[in-house]
Amino acid sequence: MTIHRISLTINGEYEQLDVPSNLTLLQMLRDKLALTGTKNGCNAGECGACTVLLNGEPVNSCMLLAVECDGAKIVTVEGLAHDSQLDPVQQAIIDHGGVQCGFCTPGILISSRALLDRNPDPTEDEIREALVGNLCRCTGYLRIVDAVKDSAARQHTLAN
Ligand code: FES
Ligand code: FES
Repeated sequence: MTIHRISLTINGEYEQLDVPSNLTLLQMLRDKLALTGTKNGCNAGECGACTVLLNGEPVNSCMLLAVECDGAKIVTVEGLAHDSQLDPVQQAIIDHGGVQCGFCTPGILISSRALLDRNPDPTEDEIREALVGNLCRCTGYLRIVDAVKDSAARQHTLAN
């Protein structure tokens, strides 16, 4: 198996890693970097539990090879909080009881953060569309959608 040296930024930290050709981004995050917040649900691009930001866009990390991410900026759920302050969407999902088993939560948080970064005032339909690739078997989505709406409102309050 060929080994490739790649460089990338993960949660603001520069990393250089030697990775085999067949290592997925998900395996690299979890097994090489111990960033186990990103979950392996289906390993087939179906559930969204492995969602991370790649250059600001949400992607399924189980469907990308680590070598494809050379030079990229990756953000995982561990990178959402800053200075011991949770991201507003993290706080809102706690406040709305949008977490049950929690397995989908990292992916939901990442997809929600990507939505709010490109659209700070999303409608309910836009929130549901943004989360269409993130399956949750527990919550019925209502509390999650309410949390994303509320975090948009909180961001507005902070900005004004
Ligand atoms: S683990 Fe990647 S989409 Fe399910
Ligand atoms: S909280 Fe259990 S899968 Fe979403």
